[in-house]
Amino acid sequence: MLYPVIWQNDSVSLIDQTRLPNEYTVVQIHRSEDMAQAIKTMIVRGAPAIGVAAAYGMYLGAREIETENHHEFLADLEKVAELLRSTRPTAVNLFWAISRMMKTAYETLGTVAEIKQNLLQTAQAINAEDIQTCQAIGDHGLAALPTTPEKLRILTHCNAGALATAGYGTALGVVRSAWREGRLERVFADETRPRLQGAKLTAWECVQEGIPVTVITDSMAAHCMKQGLIHAVVVGADRIAANGDTANKIGTYSVAIAAKAHNIPFFVAAPVSTVDFSLPDGSQIPIEERHPTEIYQIGNTTLTPSGVDFYNPAFDVTPSELITAIITENGAFNPGDLAKSQPQTLNTADM
Ligand code: MRU
Repeated sequence: MLYPVIWQNDSVSLIDQTRLPNEYTVVQIHRSEDMAQAIKTMIVRGAPAIGVAAAYGMYLGAREIETENHHEFLADLEKVAELLRSTRPTAVNLFWAISRMMKTAYETLGTVAEIKQNLLQTAQAINAEDIQTCQAIGDHGLAALPTTPEKLRILTHCNAGALATAGYGTALGVVRSAWREGRLERVFADETRPRLQGAKLTAWECVQEGIPVTVITDSMAAHCMKQGLIHAVVVGADRIAANGDTANKIGTYSVAIAAKAHNIPFFVAAPVSTVDFSLPDGSQIPIEERHPTEIYQIGNTTLTPSGVDFYNPAFDVTPSELITAIITENGAFNPGDLAKSQPQTLNTADM
């Protein structure tokens, strides 16, 4: 299995996702500032993966703090949290993981050394849990897929695979489970302009596992649906509002509209930690804008004439009414029933 974020030799090893598929390189991260930079520059990317990376970033930052004074330590750790929070705004897993690390720091009743030890353990727990979560998502997704035909052609957008998580993947986790059970004919991977995560990363992951994959440009998805080439769409998510509106890689919304027009089920696969229950709907999800070079430059070639303007939102929001089901580690839910994906909330409400 592919693990993009690993704790080893007292540092974090990240697969450099900016170099795939042509080069497989691993970057060693020893400091919180370097982790923040790695998240910003997308050496590590994908909502759950940046959550795991940020959790380790918190520990690396904690380790750099020299004071033994509890109060001063927590104040310095808040600064590390702030730095990591400033890296990417949309994926809520980043904020979720940092909050969980801060909670560990505040709740440890011990010396600063003991807090540091607990922080490492919490980061490792977040890492391990994410792999199990993805496997559970994969298996629940398998149960939610259409029962006919026996072998499905699944379209996905961006990369929500092992590379985007601690391992196994969310949308590609469903694909992996379907492949394992003989329910998959092939994957259609949208190339996913402008950064081409589909063409580069999803295609690479499928090739590693021998899963048949067809790469198409984003503009071909509706045509493929009309031709009957697609039986289901499965995508990941960066942040899901309480009503099920889902932010994911730019272009996901168009795929959802096309799927609806062709009566093709459209699934979102994501851990419960991607749901932001504080946001009633998707209108308040912060959308990251990235540098226009992502649009106008490929390698060393400039594509556009000088004198034009650019707009480069990295994510869009798919309204919940276009989503057939949201597949979490706790099962597949109708977007309107998302509160039920959080068993503790349900228990409290039931009491
Ligand atoms: O900008 P990226 O590459 O970090 O965006 C990734 C996506 O949009 C993924 O679909 C999402 O994070 C889910 S990953 C399991």
